[in-house]
Amino acid sequence: MKDVLVLGIESSCDETAASVIRNGREVLSNVISSQIALHTQYGGVVPELASRKHIENINWVIEDALTQAGVSLDDLDAIGVTYGPGLVGALLVGVAEAKAIAFAKKKPLIGVNHIEGHVCANFIEHPDLEPPFLCLIVSGGHTHLARMKDYGEFELLGRTRDDAAGEAFDKVARAIGLGYPGGPKIEKAARAGNPHAMEFPRGKVDGSPFDFSFSGMKSAVLNYLNHAAMTGETVNQADVAASFQKAVIDVLVGRAVLAAKELGEDKLVMAGGVASNGALRKAMEEACRKEGIAFYHPSPVYCTDNAAMIGVAAHYHYMKGERAEWDLNAVPNLKLV
Ligand code: KG4
Ligand code: ZN
Repeated sequence: MKDVLVLGIESSCDETAASVIRNGREVLSNVISSQIALHTQYGGVVPELASRKHIENINWVIEDALTQAGVSLDDLDAIGVTYGPGLVGALLVGVAEAKAIAFAKKKPLIGVNHIEGHVCANFIEHPDLEPPFLCLIVSGGHTHLARMKDYGEFELLGRTRDDAAGEAFDKVARAIGLGYPGGPKIEKAARAGNPHAMEFPRGKVDGSPFDFSFSGMKSAVLNYLNHAAMTGETVNQADVAASFQKAVIDVLVGRAVLAAKELGEDKLVMAGGVASNGALRKAMEEACRKEGIAFYHPSPVYCTDNAAMIGVAAHYHYMKGERAEWDLNAVPNLKLV
């Protein structure tokens, strides 16, 4: 059977990325141009700067992805692009580029939901993994507990009511002086700290056992820091990082495993930037082993934003015959379901 080649394009936040995927699961190239150095000066992503950088980078990123894969635009079967959720100006760069290529080369255009893309990252390294399964998506903008019923079909079980897990990592990192991006810096600092030094609240949402709330936990860290500043107490950065990280992990593991048990799911898939956290992976792995749940997660490079995951998601929509129209637009607040 002829190979199916999909070009994935991602520009929803601060990474400009392109990737060529063969037959839905094989990564022929995965090029990511990160803007972290640019945004670090401002302590977070500046949307207008992000859009401009995407414009500067998108052409060479795509050219590199094609060259590394050893294919030309003519060889492609479809062009997949993230059209939401994300920063509107950033998304528009990818969407306009994908439309231009698809129109000029007469190729099918596939619009991909970024959150679905994160879940699909798991198909790259787990060739036997197929839906249905339970998934926990933990990124900078989203915290969702969902069921992937079939390719491209989700049922939402729970979500955060306030901050996303990654957002909480970023805000706490800033508060304790670790800077941006917060997740990896907290993970590193936490290695030298005591996770039981402070007890931060494990937020629950009354009546919604699968929803999340991280704002109380974040406020508790800020209150602790304010109190220490007022009383002249020295703050042990590593202990705060380790105790905060432990609180987040307890909540994520507790809720995901509870959902798996209550719904009788035997496969749990984790995805998104926070899923690259080593301590979280270890805790989830152990909890799943105890409960007889098969646990899947991508390598760190496929957890944070990349275009390979977008190419994989696009492949399955393409195979179902789904196509985007030429009026495909950026949808900044696109929902998973
Ligand atoms: O999935 P992603 O790259 O972008 C979004 O779609 O949001 O996730 C980025 C988020 C950031 O909040 C970042 O702090 C967090 O993922 N993150 C981590 C780690 N690496 C990235 N959080 C905890 N531990 C990490 N090692
Ligand atoms: Zn993402």
